[in-house]
Amino acid sequence: MLIGVVKESAAGETRVAATPTTVARLVKLGYDVVVDPEAGAASSFPDQAYSDAGATIGHAVGADIVIAVNALSDAQLDALRPGTTVIGLLAPALNPDRVADLARRPITALSMDAVPRISRAQSMDVLSSMANIAGYRAVIEAAHEFGRFFTGQVTAAGKVPPARVLVAGAGVAGLAAIGAAGSLGAIVQATDPRPEVADQVRSLGGEYLAIEAAEVEVSATGYAKEMGDDYKVREARLYAEHCAKADIVITTALIPGRPAPRLITADMVAAMKPGSVIVDMAAANGGNVEGTVAGQKTVTANGVTIIGYTDLAGRLPAQASQLYGTNVVNLITLLTPERDGRLALDFDDVVQRSICVVRDGELTWPPPPVQVSAAPPAAATPAVEPRAPKGPMPAARRYQLVGIGAALLFFLAAFSPAGLLGHLTVFALAIVVGFYVIGHVHHALHTPLMSVTNAISGIIVVGALLQIGHGAPAITVVSFVAILLASINIFGGFAVTRRMLAMFTRS
Ligand code: NAI
Repeated sequence: MLIGVVKESAAGETRVAATPTTVARLVKLGYDVVVDPEAGAASSFPDQAYSDAGATIGHAVGADIVIAVNALSDAQLDALRPGTTVIGLLAPALNPDRVADLARRPITALSMDAVPRISRAQSMDVLSSMANIAGYRAVIEAAHEFGRFFTGQVTAAGKVPPARVLVAGAGVAGLAAIGAAGSLGAIVQATDPRPEVADQVRSLGGEYLAIEAAEVEVSATGYAKEMGDDYKVREARLYAEHCAKADIVITTALIPGRPAPRLITADMVAAMKPGSVIVDMAAANGGNVEGTVAGQKTVTANGVTIIGYTDLAGRLPAQASQLYGTNVVNLITLLTPERDGRLALDFDDVVQRSICVVRDGELTWPPPPVQVSAAPPAAATPAVEPRAPKGPMPAARRYQLVGIGAALLFFLAAFSPAGLLGHLTVFALAIVVGFYVIGHVHHALHTPLMSVTNAISGIIVVGALLQIGHGAPAITVVSFVAILLASINIFGGFAVTRRMLAMFTRS
């Protein structure tokens, strides 16, 4: 089959649905690829690079499968052949007229933005890819407008305090913003109604600001729900306090299917320091900040810059096209089970069913809801009798167990060789001490802990080398096994550390 990569028709769009790298992957899957002339020009991908990757330059909308970033224009739709499959960001939930128009045509339409947020579909999750880029770019835009360093410095000309960044909403975009701002050296704080994101915020070096309210909970889809009045009052108090101290505020709050929650009022903006910068990432959806103008940068009377750009991902066009194109290839790989260059849509697969808006001219939108497992759904009425809560062990049973333990110890002491009891005591104590010491080591310190276990393994190897060949055959065998296992631990530890370090090495 022939895949066509269109030149985007939307004004200001810089992205393209395939890059030379992803075209090469499509060719490997057995497809022929045709790319509109200049389709990748705004992303710095020249036509020659597509030709070198195996594509031809020509008329993309005549292909069997047409891939795009945005919805096709009317002219492009009219030029499609019957039976074409169109793949792009169709936003069907927000555009019922577009859905109705697509359903009037003898085509199949797949919407990349309808990929469910489930683990299996992560490699096709365009919204996350774009939100990740946009969160990073939001920090870059803020840094560009902010008249000072992000990082604190001690210079000959005086001390520079670090910038204080507040991130509202720690989803994909929020976490990317936290990471980017932290890596520039700012002090980052973040809040989100979903308490489970606290660890993610901390792992990126941010401080999680919890809002203590009875109703903090997570919907069954893993997204935040609309918060109640108690939460909103406490939330407003937190924003009022922290906005006044912040240099940069980045808002990313989103509740799916609803207008963006209004978090920051005009009064809070008025209380911010002159020169502060707000990036309202939810601008396209109504904005989290009072006074945001979608698509524009405005400056308030007190000198606060509010950025409402809605094309943050497109401001890194090459990166956005590469990730978008990779998400598309991953989807097409799923749709090409035989790797034979033929698309086969399988409605039994939840991902394929979820993204299908129209199938051969038949309306298939909306799809059945998908249960996302990011958070467990509220427990249904239990079908079985609930178990009695686990209480302390009854005293009689406790005495029974202690008695059995004491008897075992007595027999061991009475009948075992003199040396064994001492060894067993040390061994038992080592287990108890090890359990408590290692069990309380913080997750972040597990890598240094691995080094300690490597050192212990080193001691075991030395001990076993001293024993091997100097005693009974049983001791030789045990020494050999000890050397083998300890060596696996040592060399395995080195291999894992090497892999981890390679992740941080610039190529
Ligand atoms: P997401 O769903 O992963 O994250 C949204 C977060 O907001 C969730 O963690 C949710 O718990 C949180 N939230 C909900 N109510 C809140 C409240 N009252 N206070 C604080 N946090 C709250 O969404 P994602 O993918 O991170 O996108 C975030 C926003 O960025 C969306 O509005 C999206 O449309 C926008 N976006 C904007 C772009 C641009 O160019 N301006 C590009 C990409 C995304």
